[in-house]
Amino acid sequence: MWDLDINNTAYQEFPERFIAHYTSLAETTDKFLSERVSKLTLILIPVFLFLVFKYVIPKIKEIVVGNSIITIVLNILKMIPGLHILVRILLKSKYKELYEAMAGFLLEKRENVFEVLPDRPIAIEKLKKRIDEIQESQYEKYANGLHSGSIYGSEDKKFNQRIEHAMEKFSNANTFDLDIHKGVAHMNADVANSAKKLFNGDDDTHCIITTGGTESILCSLAAYKLMGKKERGINKPNIVFYDTAHAAFPKGCFFFGIEPRMVKTKDKSYTSPEPFRPYIDSNTVAIIASGCNYAHGGIDDVTAFGKMALEYGIGLHVDNCLGGFCNCFGDEIVDDMFPFDFRTPGVTTISADTHKYGYGPKGNSCCLIRPKKLFDALKYTSIDHSGVPFTMDHFGDFRSGAILAGTWAAMFSLGYSGYVEKVRKIHEETLKVRKFVDQHPDLKLYGPNNSLNMVCFDGINVNPIKVSLKLKELYDWKLSECQYPCVVHLLVSDSNVEKMDKFIKDLSEVTDLIRQEPDGYKASDYQKLYGASQQITDASIMGDLLYVVLDSCYSTTKDDLMVSFNTLH
Ligand SMILES: Cc1ncc(COP(=O)(O)O)c(C=O)c1O
Repeated sequence: MWDLDINNTAYQEFPERFIAHYTSLAETTDKFLSERVSKLTLILIPVFLFLVFKYVIPKIKEIVVGNSIITIVLNILKMIPGLHILVRILLKSKYKELYEAMAGFLLEKRENVFEVLPDRPIAIEKLKKRIDEIQESQYEKYANGLHSGSIYGSEDKKFNQRIEHAMEKFSNANTFDLDIHKGVAHMNADVANSAKKLFNGDDDTHCIITTGGTESILCSLAAYKLMGKKERGINKPNIVFYDTAHAAFPKGCFFFGIEPRMVKTKDKSYTSPEPFRPYIDSNTVAIIASGCNYAHGGIDDVTAFGKMALEYGIGLHVDNCLGGFCNCFGDEIVDDMFPFDFRTPGVTTISADTHKYGYGPKGNSCCLIRPKKLFDALKYTSIDHSGVPFTMDHFGDFRSGAILAGTWAAMFSLGYSGYVEKVRKIHEETLKVRKFVDQHPDLKLYGPNNSLNMVCFDGINVNPIKVSLKLKELYDWKLSECQYPCVVHLLVSDSNVEKMDKFIKDLSEVTDLIRQEPDGYKASDYQKLYGASQQITDASIMGDLLYVVLDSCYSTTKDDLMVSFNTLH
């Protein structure tokens, strides 16, 4: 054992030495911690700021910007766990009101409902009568040409008879079995190749015939995604587009796992793509331009879009679904036609609908692709299933012979000069309506109004939606009411072009009426439903409501509809 010598100076100095050691240790620890903490802080602060800018600020913006106080409160409540159920309960009466509106609208005059096959055949005369009744009830209001974009076909009986004749001849045909349906395949090729020339495609351009504008857009998006993966190794592709682009773009993104980057247009005018820059990154596969867009009829600055696409080495889709079959005859009609087709460098895909201004039957559109290797990315071949080997370049079924034959008949019976004549007339009437709106003290043109075929207007002293509703109430006009912002558009087409003088007269009268009695209108059931988006700006609430619309289209009774309504909660 050791003896302790308490006289030893080491023991005597112990307290001082201990304190000195302790102080030095504390200082070292402090220094160590403060260094670490400051380093940690240096890392944490940017991460924190990044999260705030990336998630918190956009979320706050989403909740607050452009929303009413009620929507803001509802949105905040929905974010609190458990409270979203309360929101549902609060909104139940609103849903119910809208559901009633839907029932009123859809089930009104619904007669002779078939929910199962009849046991015996329905006699031919009875069947024909029923078909005529359904057709007449549907056309009762709008065969008079007092509409916008609901019907694109021509009112020319002889022209329609040619289409009907062709459709009847090929009602059973399709493009599947080329051995049997070679003629349909030829018509398919004629329509595709003519469209390719009309949009100034070159030898490296291909045209796929699809079932409509949406499928043409979906084909383009799929091609961009597949090429992005193949050539640039992109696993998380995104596309950048304005909020004026058609809903088929976000829809395609939804189906194909593409990130939709929607940019809000500031003034909804003749749009430059400059605001896209912060949204484009190494995963961007394409940008989108409209020529023209559905809501306001604006044709985007396709030249500038093309330059941007080339600069970033990405695709550019120009959506010509609505305007295309007017635009491609535009050079014959106006001196300063906006670029919209493959003549603009950088354009890689175009959608253009023959079932709109091409005057063919519903169910046909063109998806034009350049270069062909982009089209190659879409080709799908199946060789190992138990049926026959087959190949496909689009999503839908093999093309219907009737629709192809009808489209073929429409295009080739009109010919180039036939289309030019129609577009000239349509454009003249469009300009006439535009001039009237422009000179009216209570109305104003909205957006660039640079398309050949659409007039979009807002009100100065009047609510344009009220004007539209009153036009419907008094004169049966059915215009298109748009939501962001509340403006109204009129598409001038072959089926209403003769009615533009009447439109100007009716619009003038109704605008005066609305100015004098600003609150004197009652929304129809249909309007209540679609106008609902003016009051319910929260997308998820509106989304739920739209699901009811989808379900209700198959409902034959109010009880059926109620089932769908109840599943919402
Ligand atoms: C500009 C635009 N793009 C695409 C589409 C989609 O076309 P579809 O209804 O044939 O699918 C439309 C339809 O109105 C449109 O106006």
